[in-house]
Amino acid sequence: MVNFDYQTPTRLIFGKGVVDKLQEVMAQFGPRVLLTYGGGSIKRSGLYDKVIVLLAGKQVTELPGIQPNPKYNPSVLEGVRLCKENDIDVILAVGGGSVLDCSKAIAAGAKYDGEPWDLITYKVPIKAALPIVDIITMAATGSEYDCGGVISRTETNDKVGIMDPHLFPAVSIIDPSYTFTVPAKQTRAGVADCINHIMEQYFCGEHIAMNDAFMEGAIKSLMKNVKIVLQKPDDYEARAEIFYATTLGCNGIYALGNSMSGWPMHAIEHALSAYYDITHGEGLAIVTPRWMRHILNETTIERFVSFGTGVFGIDASLPQQEIAERAIQAIYDFYKEIGMPMSLPEVGIDDSRLGEMAHHIAVNEGLEHAWAPLQEADILAILQDCMK
Ligand code: NZQ
Ligand code: ZN
Repeated sequence: MVNFDYQTPTRLIFGKGVVDKLQEVMAQFGPRVLLTYGGGSIKRSGLYDKVIVLLAGKQVTELPGIQPNPKYNPSVLEGVRLCKENDIDVILAVGGGSVLDCSKAIAAGAKYDGEPWDLITYKVPIKAALPIVDIITMAATGSEYDCGGVISRTETNDKVGIMDPHLFPAVSIIDPSYTFTVPAKQTRAGVADCINHIMEQYFCGEHIAMNDAFMEGAIKSLMKNVKIVLQKPDDYEARAEIFYATTLGCNGIYALGNSMSGWPMHAIEHALSAYYDITHGEGLAIVTPRWMRHILNETTIERFVSFGTGVFGIDASLPQQEIAERAIQAIYDFYKEIGMPMSLPEVGIDDSRLGEMAHHIAVNEGLEHAWAPLQEADILAILQDCMK
C-alpha cells in the first residue's frame, strides 16, 4: 500500500430539496457574487429563477454561455474581467462540470495580475483563488468534489487540466432531482466518464483489496442505474446513486493507498475533444476498450482478471487470457447496449489528424511514464483502432 496525504475541504450538501440551503450557505461570503452558468438548461429547468430568489440581497453579476469543453477565450477571460471590475467576493457556479471547471479557472485568474493561461499551464503557481460555491446539475465529472478543472484553448488545440488545492469548491450543493432533465446522450456520457475515472484508478501497479471492492461496486452501481434512468429519467433513487458515484470520481478517495496510473485514457480523450470538441464521456467510451486491448500483457493481465471477475462475474476458473479478453468485450458491449457511439467516425472524426493528435499527446501528456507506458507509436495504434 502506498502512503497518502489526503484532505478535502469541500462541504457536500446532497439530496432532495437541498438547494433551499443556498441562502444559508451564501451568508458566509461577501455580498458580491459572480453567477456562472451554461447555455440555458438551468433556465429551462427553473433552477435559475429559484437561485435568483435565494440570492435576494446580494449584488449579482452574471456570466452566462459557458460551453461544454469550456473555452479560455472568451469564458475564462471574460469571467476574470468581471471579477476584477466588480470586486467579486464569491463565485456561484450553477450547471455541469464545464461551468464549474471554468469557474475554477476564473477563481484563480481573479487573484492574479498576469495572463490567466500562466496559471492553467502551471507556468506560475496558484497562490490564491476566490471561493466557489456550486450547484452541480450533471452527474459526470466529480468537479464538485475535486480541485481540478479542464480548459480548452481553441487556437492551439490545447485542452489542459489544472489542479490545485485552492480550487476545491467551498460548498457543493447536489440535488439529483435536477438531473432528471439531462438528455440521454449526456446521461450516458456522464456515466461513461465516471466509469472511466474509476478505471483510471483501478488499472494501476500497487492496489489494495478494499479499493478493488469499492471501485467494482461503484461501477456495478453505475451500470445498473444508468439503464434504469435511460428508461425512467425521473427515477430519483437511481439518479442519486449515480450522482454519489460520480461525485467521488476524481477526488482520489476511490483509490487512497493505490499507486498512480497516469490516467492514459483521459490523456488521449482530451486531445480528441480539444481537436474536435466532442463530448468527453463519448470519447472515453471509444478509447477505453482499445487502450485495454493495447496494454494487455503479462504484466497487466492481473488487473483485467480482477476487473472481469469482480465487475462482470466472469468465471474465475477460466484461463487468465480468456477472462481478460471477455472483460474487454464486456465493457465494449455494455457501452454499445446503452447506446454510446463506439468508433471515431460515429462522433465525426476521420483519420486525417490521428498522427498529429498522437504526437500532441506524446509530447504533452507524459504517457511514457504511465503504469502501462505508451510511446507515440502506441498512441497512434490506439487511435487507429478507434476508427473501426
Ligand atoms: O450549457 P447548458 O445549457 O447548461 O447544457 C449542458 C451542456 O449542454 C447540459 N446540461 C447540464 N446539466 C443539465 C444539462 N441539460 C439538462 N439538464 C441538466 N440538469 O449538458 C451539456 C454538457 O454539460 P457539461 O458541463 O459540458 O458536461 P460535464 O459535466 O460532463 O462536463 C464535461 C467537462 O468536464 C471536463 C471534461 O473534459 C469536459 O470539458 N472534465 C472535468 C473533470 C474535473 N473537473 O475533475 C474531470 C473529467 O475527467 C473531465 O475531463
Ligand atoms: Zn473524465
